[in-house]
Amino acid sequence: MVFIDEELTRRLLEEAKEARLKAYAPYSGYQVGAALITKSGRIFGGCNIENASYGATICAERVAVARAIAEGEKDFVALAVVADSPEPGSPCGICRQFLAEFAPRLQLILGNLDGKVRRGSLDEYLPYAFNKDYFCAEEAK
Ligand code: THU
Repeated sequence: MVFIDEELTRRLLEEAKEARLKAYAPYSGYQVGAALITKSGRIFGGCNIENASYGATICAERVAVARAIAEGEKDFVALAVVADSPEPGSPCGICRQFLAEFAPRLQLILGNLDGKVRRGSLDEYLPYAFNKDYFCAEEAK
């Protein structure tokens, strides 16, 4: 199990900052990077990818999750997100829901380019998250 100490926190923020450089955000100009670490210690980066059909845009957080899942990793420990915002950014509602599917209490490390950092847990950002327990057939649980 990975323990998120100060050094790993800094590393995740660095990886998110690096991932941000790949952002495709010609419409908003708001570039976001994410870095997701799994229990096995692997780190998956993501950046936002916008689209001329705005609604097709995908956030950095979901790109990182998609990359991890596609590599067979779904035990998430912590996620760092970095953007050039006055205050550390805050994951959008869709991303909160997307993340909660796999890690309802995921550790969040939110930073900006000035080095301001806010830490938290996903369940503070999305309390009472909707999940499969509300409706799913037994066999899917
Ligand atoms: N965005 C992210 O990638 N992550 C966030 O946490 C907030 C929003 C992206 C979506 C869009 O490309 C741009 O930022 C402006 O909303």
